[in-house]
Amino acid sequence: MSLDKAHNQGVAPVTYGEGTRAPRGDYARARADYTCEQAHDHYTTADHDTYRRLYARQLQQLPGLACDEFIVAVQQLGAPDRIPRFDAISERLLKATGWQVVGVPGLIPEEAFFALLAERRFPVTDWIRRPEEFDYVVEPDVFHDLFGHVPLLFNPVFADYMQAYGAGGLKASRLDACELLARLYWYTVEFGLIATPAGLRAYGAGILSSAGELRHSIRSTEAQRIAFDLKRLMRTKYKIDSYQASYFVIESFDQLFAATAPDFTPVYRAVRDQIAAGGEVEAGIVLPAERTFS
Ligand code: PHE
Ligand code: FE
Repeated sequence: MSLDKAHNQGVAPVTYGEGTRAPRGDYARARADYTCEQAHDHYTTADHDTYRRLYARQLQQLPGLACDEFIVAVQQLGAPDRIPRFDAISERLLKATGWQVVGVPGLIPEEAFFALLAERRFPVTDWIRRPEEFDYVVEPDVFHDLFGHVPLLFNPVFADYMQAYGAGGLKASRLDACELLARLYWYTVEFGLIATPAGLRAYGAGILSSAGELRHSIRSTEAQRIAFDLKRLMRTKYKIDSYQASYFVIESFDQLFAATAPDFTPVYRAVRDQIAAGGEVEAGIVLPAERTFS
């Protein structure tokens, strides 16, 4: 799920082809909360093959680049040779951290997204990219959502963070602060890095499900890796059409959870004031005296 694109609301034209799975964005089959059945029988052999190849390509890149929590938990997705059943993952996830995965037809409105997270239900797009989109797909698909996001939901602290984020999102909607909160999602859940004794590692789903960005995020000399600071992060723009120019580095999931636990009402106010005073920061910029990682 990519929050910045979560506005694509409405019902897409329904162009059901005989014997093919539902097209992208077929919201006609979604419930009021935007969840839908995973049309598992509708996946074709080619769909399963795409998943298998994506999984294999990512898995072999993880050592030395992905955080250990992710590497351990990725096995919980089940057999890597076909698109898993969401129900089977939910069974394991419920036992581990009380989370479930639920199908959605694609991007969903912000409020619906926050509401699901606040209930510990993670929305997973049920369709998979076409073979010609193997290297790059514009919208999140089942591979990004499952492989990228679901493993860390098995981690108790990260699981609590995601729920808190959902609750915080509902609050941000009332405070008209979704844009600032979306930056937090972007720079943690999607593109977060974590400092470990063995070196920097990725925990963000956008990195972990990307063929090229995993290496870029950890090794590129072009990227900036800045110590996590909530207000600084909220002042920072992000790129949606290229590798990130800046990443924010946490020390632990406990640190992330603690830093985001306080009421954000005054935080939003302070950040807005700073931005109004010209303090918005472009991605790729390091401010004076700022701590970076290489
Ligand atoms: N503490 C935040 C608030 O008051 C909620 C939140 C927690 C938001 C974790 C994001 C992540 O809005
Ligand atoms: Fe995502």
